[in-house]
Amino acid sequence: MTRILGIETSCDETSAAVLEGAGDEVTQKSLVILSQDIHVFGGVVPEIASRAHLTSIVPVVDRALQEAGTTLGDLDAIAVTNTPGLVGALLVGVSYGKALAFASNIPLVGVHHMEGHLFATALEHRDAVPPFTALLVSGGHTLLLDVEAWGKYRLLGATRDDAAGEAFDKVAKLLGLPYPGGRYVEELARRGNPKRFNFARPMVRKNALPKDEEYYAFSFSGLKTAVLNAVRGSKDIDTDKADIARAFQDSLIDTLVEKAARGVLEFSRQRLVLGGGVACNTTLAVAMRKKLEPEGVAVFTPTPRLATDNAAMIARAGFFRFEKGERAGLDLNAYASSPIPGLVAA
Ligand code: KG4
Ligand code: ZN
Repeated sequence: MTRILGIETSCDETSAAVLEGAGDEVTQKSLVILSQDIHVFGGVVPEIASRAHLTSIVPVVDRALQEAGTTLGDLDAIAVTNTPGLVGALLVGVSYGKALAFASNIPLVGVHHMEGHLFATALEHRDAVPPFTALLVSGGHTLLLDVEAWGKYRLLGATRDDAAGEAFDKVAKLLGLPYPGGRYVEELARRGNPKRFNFARPMVRKNALPKDEEYYAFSFSGLKTAVLNAVRGSKDIDTDKADIARAFQDSLIDTLVEKAARGVLEFSRQRLVLGGGVACNTTLAVAMRKKLEPEGVAVFTPTPRLATDNAAMIARAGFFRFEKGERAGLDLNAYASSPIPGLVAA
């Protein structure tokens, strides 16, 4: 049995978790997430985020060990996110992970944040294991992947501009909602009339074929501009904003569902796994189920705590990499961006 500590500091959550188990039988023993409440500037300020990680990392890790009833000496490995993310923020976790590993003579594993999101759902759903189609939708990424096996990923599509969560956040700002705005937009959209506004579905053409360049690609900046124009054109934004939120969300979700369904169909998968902060959106999950369940495809979504950034998913992906024999040296570095490991040719 392996016991592993995960550390995540890629953006604005300082998080640590302990997992133990073997193979796909992994149990979460603890998960501590400290969300930074410092969005006074309407977004994440890298310098402020790094400083907040610095003050939180020690107590957050201590608490995760304590809640798991374990000590550093009982760990088999430490997994830490080293890419992608804000370099200054990542460096806090990477440096602390390295120091702990060195001081306690424990192996260290570097984890790709998006591979973490890919594993998150499997912590809660035994059947959310490969082969499956994965749609990862977060504040920084929109990735559609075919997952043949853990560690074997075919990148089907990504966003050409804004990530899905970023689109939600920008639209929230246009509608005068707080940051991060995804859940406020979803809430507002519930009261919206779907017929008042109609925004085009980006990158979705009827009868598109897999060889078409845009078959799997995403783009949300045009949709954001459509929202901006609707806001500017509104004579009474307080009355219109729920309808605008509704039209925006309908268009974005339709696109996500259509592209995910294309991936499921092409590879004849029976499972679709959602991950990333936008997977908290229950309207998305409902739409995905409505489209795919009649086709015999099971849709798995993580609960909000595991959908948004957390260290349990990092420990879980690190667990897989550790069992494969991967080890990071003390020269492990942080990188703002890098491709998810294990990509096979499309
Ligand atoms: O995965 P995550 O916690 O952080 C990144 O790695 O980016 O995702 C955060 C994103 C934000 O853009 C936030 O607005 C979005 O997830 N989000 C939502 C909802 N809850 C969080 N978007 C749409 N609907 C929601 N209910
Ligand atoms: Zn994330």
